[in-house]
Amino acid sequence: MPSRGFPKGFLWGAATSAYQIEGAAREGGKGESIWDRFCREPGVIQNGDTGDIACDHYNRWRDDVENMRDLGLGAYRFSISWPRVFPMGNGRHSPKGLDFYETLVDALLEAHIEPAATLYHWDLPQSLQDRGGWTNRDTAGWFSDYAASVFMRLGDRVRIWMTLNEPQVSSFAGHEAGIHAPGLKDFGKAVQASHILLHAHSIAVQAYRQLSPGKHRIGIALDVHPVYPYTDGMSDIEAARMADARTNRWFLDPVLKGTYPDDIMSLYTRNRVAPHAEPADFELLKANPVDFIGLNYYLPERVYASDEGGFLGFQYGLKKDCPRTEIGWEVFPEGLYDILVQIRKEYDNPVMFITENGAAFPDHRVVDGVVQDDDRIDYIATHLSEARRAIQDGVKLEGYFLWSLMDNFEWAHGFSKRFGITYVDFHTQARTWKKSAAWYRDVIASNGASLTNAG
Ligand code: FCB
Repeated sequence: MPSRGFPKGFLWGAATSAYQIEGAAREGGKGESIWDRFCREPGVIQNGDTGDIACDHYNRWRDDVENMRDLGLGAYRFSISWPRVFPMGNGRHSPKGLDFYETLVDALLEAHIEPAATLYHWDLPQSLQDRGGWTNRDTAGWFSDYAASVFMRLGDRVRIWMTLNEPQVSSFAGHEAGIHAPGLKDFGKAVQASHILLHAHSIAVQAYRQLSPGKHRIGIALDVHPVYPYTDGMSDIEAARMADARTNRWFLDPVLKGTYPDDIMSLYTRNRVAPHAEPADFELLKANPVDFIGLNYYLPERVYASDEGGFLGFQYGLKKDCPRTEIGWEVFPEGLYDILVQIRKEYDNPVMFITENGAAFPDHRVVDGVVQDDDRIDYIATHLSEARRAIQDGVKLEGYFLWSLMDNFEWAHGFSKRFGITYVDFHTQARTWKKSAAWYRDVIASNGASLTNAG
């Protein structure tokens, strides 16, 4: 491998998700999702924003594919909106839903961009939420029925699939912290939701194997956070181990080993928040391994032992005097290296993709109409450099998807946080490259050799 570049065939991509960019909340027969409903609750989203229009990608997808072609993207990660395909979640499907994604996929292929599709990026059909959502076991079955219809339609052309995006966030931010849809605040329900999500993942993988045997690849996108203790004291080290189990291993172990980690499972059992799982659920996970693991990496976790953390016994702390993005997230590129190597060691060196990585910055400095986002360039460059170091140390990393192709609806932050390399004017819907877009185009064209910060 050249000292500055990446391995031959490394996939250079960018990512988005349906609710964050599509808009067209009521067009094409789409049903209501939990995010459509959640955004209507007063005070939950900054400035009362909603994804009703977002980037209007549903109507402007041609321009967006053109933009990707200009960037020279090798791959594009997007998500399919379940309520666009099944407005009520199950039963009657809406023909226009899959038509939309089929047209998009064909346009991507024509532009020589590999489509990488996520089946669930948090927009559960509201009618299924009304029946218990991810705390109801039946939702897993409905998910796999929906997944099967998508595989039947697009399985011949889409070669990279992800079942779920960040089940850790959809279960805990959505059911424990209550800051994401459906807005519940119940730890036990969050743990239960995580189990049903993982169950849904395994039966969707099973459906994929039956419908597209041996053809292409399916995985999952997990948000991972390397965890560091605040001090070298034994109690902080133990706290870090438990936090790692809660955030990372609770999802990595079932997907890659078919079990839950004992340490946190016993803690959940003692505190009566363990999920209701059936022995067959674990058999199913073991019988349906993934082809790759997708990692979304933004920031590490820093934890210390504390009784105020309730039965978990730890709390999250903030490192002092360190660079942060506009959203307040610590910038720590070495964390990406650490988590890649941790997974290589603990899970028998699986194939991995970075399915998300990027940063929100204020984007205030504009010269000749171009946002001078050197801070974003620096963030991406330093993370890519750590990714390359991990590859040199034997990690099987096959691609990188930058978050995000363009500014979009950033969940509870609404439109106040911009992650794009393309600037979106949300009044006119005009798209303009930031400085980082031209920079990323050069990185792609040189297969990473142009990285200035990558020594
Ligand atoms: C991740 C989400 C993605 C985006 C980024 C900033 O947790 O998967 O949709 O919001 O954060």
